Amino acid sequence: MIKKGIILAGGTGSRMSPLTKAVNKQLLPIHDKPLIFYPLSVLMLSGIRDVLIIVNKGQLNQFKKILPNGNNLGIKISYAEQKNPKGLPDAFLVGKKFIGNENVALILGDNFFYGQSLTKILKKCVKLKVGATVILHPVKNPSLYGVANIDKKNKITKIIEKPKKKISNLAVTGFYFFDNKVINYSKNLKPSKRKEIEIVDLLNKYREKKKLSAKFISRGGAWLDTGSIEDFYNTSAFVAALENRQGLKIACLEEIALSNKWINKTNILNAIKFYGKCSYSQYLSTLIKKS
Ligand code: TTP
Repeated sequence: MIKKGIILAGGTGSRMSPLTKAVNKQLLPIHDKPLIFYPLSVLMLSGIRDVLIIVNKGQLNQFKKILPNGNNLGIKISYAEQKNPKGLPDAFLVGKKFIGNENVALILGDNFFYGQSLTKILKKCVKLKVGATVILHPVKNPSLYGVANIDKKNKITKIIEKPKKKISNLAVTGFYFFDNKVINYSKNLKPSKRKEIEIVDLLNKYREKKKLSAKFISRGGAWLDTGSIEDFYNTSAFVAALENRQGLKIACLEEIALSNKWINKTNILNAIKFYGKCSYSQYLSTLIKKS
């Protein structure tokens, strides 16, 4: 069972400059809440309560203002700084102490997941004991992503970053599950041409040992990458459309914690005080009226 999760929330956000010059991308709004709420909500839906957030050097205090220590969500949040964006597998080197000798999940701070059977899929993923699992999702332009080919048993046979020739339409999303070998494998990765250590190289180490499996979010679910300004606003519009239609919030952290029975009414009242008079607080107050 995976009990620990890392959110990689540093990066340069160069595609979103000048928005990201003064503020980290993960603190910018997707509709009514900061982007970081979305990956954190996904970890919480998976049942993960011990979370490490990796941020850029110098940005720790900004993040702590909105997500102090997790107490009020019934989880534990700790932080680590990444000196510079050396690549996604650097998460396991920066987070080595946090991981200890356990298995771990990694979610990219700018990834958005939504869908009816999402929680069910994630609960299966966290059962991982050995090897690694990735979540695949069909996309229209696979040449923009890491893409995987699978065999009949859902074992990955090939995984290529931004393939020029189409191998499949299944993109590797930014939520990964690893056994403890991930630390050693990451240590031994060599930087690529763009001078980063690459997640595809790490996944290939597992694939070579036939230890890389796949789970799927099919067309009933959504995986959106919020890396470009256009994608960012599209994701925000998606959340706004659903929330306004249903009157239910996506990634309301307190709602997830409450339904997991990790917190109680008092925590919700504290949260309302913390956020102040706003529509998010109004929504929180409806949660305790219901229960
Ligand atoms: P990317 O999309 O690769 O990078 P980025 O967010 O810095 O944006 P850009 O390409 O526009 O410069 O990263 C995916 C996520 O992982 C994003 O949330 C930032 C984070 N990240 C780190 O925290 N550290 C890293 O070393 C890298 C490569 C990414």
